[in-house]
Amino acid sequence: MPQDSGPHGAGPEQREESAFLLACRRRPVPHTPVWFMRQAGRSLPEYREARVGIPMLEACARPDLVVEITMQPVRRYAVDAAIFFSDIVVPLKAIGIDLDIKPGVGPVIADPIRDAAAVDRLRPLEAADVPFVAEAVGALIGELGGTPLIGFAGGPFTLASYLIEGGPSKTHDRTKAMMYGEPELWARLLDRLADIAATYLKIQVEAGARAIQLFDSWVGGVGPEDYRTSVLPHSRKIFAALEPYDVPRIHFGVGTGELLGLMGEAGADVVGVDWRVPLDEAVLRVGPGKALQGNLDPAILFAPWDVIETRARDVLARGRTAEGHVFNLGHGVLPTTDPDMLARLVDFVHEESAAR
Ligand code: CP3
Repeated sequence: MPQDSGPHGAGPEQREESAFLLACRRRPVPHTPVWFMRQAGRSLPEYREARVGIPMLEACARPDLVVEITMQPVRRYAVDAAIFFSDIVVPLKAIGIDLDIKPGVGPVIADPIRDAAAVDRLRPLEAADVPFVAEAVGALIGELGGTPLIGFAGGPFTLASYLIEGGPSKTHDRTKAMMYGEPELWARLLDRLADIAATYLKIQVEAGARAIQLFDSWVGGVGPEDYRTSVLPHSRKIFAALEPYDVPRIHFGVGTGELLGLMGEAGADVVGVDWRVPLDEAVLRVGPGKALQGNLDPAILFAPWDVIETRARDVLARGRTAEGHVFNLGHGVLPTTDPDMLARLVDFVHEESAAR
């Protein structure tokens, strides 16, 4: 059900008042909107307290905790958007894959997917597999008021990499071996993962999420020609499935400087940029008709404030060459980041951009 006719009241005019949604739609903004990837999580003492004794995947399945943790950064910082507290592997767990999220490691899969029989066992996701998601999103919409909620899913390459490798990988060697050596099996796997991601995103949007982000975090390891033939068609399928809902679609991966144009072509409205490519250069790579999101190096937050301020001002200046700019870090908040630095950064971005 497209959102305009959804149960959450806000008509298109009211929705457009959010600086975040305006920037995503490349419309004039009162100030540059800002949120942070991984704004909820280990950098916050209140997060660590809420999680004591509760494993990550259990926390993701408890609507009371999901609401609390999603709200924590919204309460602490004047961010322009909330991101749903979950993980990219939650829908995989929900369709019966034996996996866990190990602290300090990441997702670990008991039986990696490496042949046709394993690919064929991957079944589609249904809303009934993740009842806690719609419940948590619905509860969040009430709590958030005018602050939009961003729903998210893992991109096809990144999910495939966890499933094939069995855990995190720097080189993605088995993953690429399948991509290069068994292209038909690879396409079948990515097609299934695309359907799962699309369903997971639709569930969030139908429950009230007002934008979505597809995190293909590790796709930067793929060259442009292979991306075009082996990944892009599957990402395109996900974005196309979301088209009728008319919510901004953000696409992000780390180290994707050579892929930025193609990631836009896949159907994103907003292309996320890591810290390696200056935003004015990213504008040229992405081309017209797209907004950009990014891209302060998360490690800058460990430098003295005057350095952070200078770098943030530079990101804002370069961002003004884009048709729309959502300020963010170039990747997630690092766990040892001082939350007060993020609070100060949000205020600086708002003040500096509103003064113009
Ligand atoms: O951004 C947010 O604040 C929302 C929550 C969120 C989490 N994971 C919570 C989480 C989001 C958007 C994700 C997405 C995610 N998960 C991605 C894409 C984003 C990115 O950073 O590139 C990826 C690659 C994963 C897989 C994953 N899950 C990793 C690499 C890790 C970290 C492992 C570690 O401990 O270093 C996880 C676990 C995870 N997901 C945590 C959180 C808060 C840490 C869990 C904990 O508190 O122990």
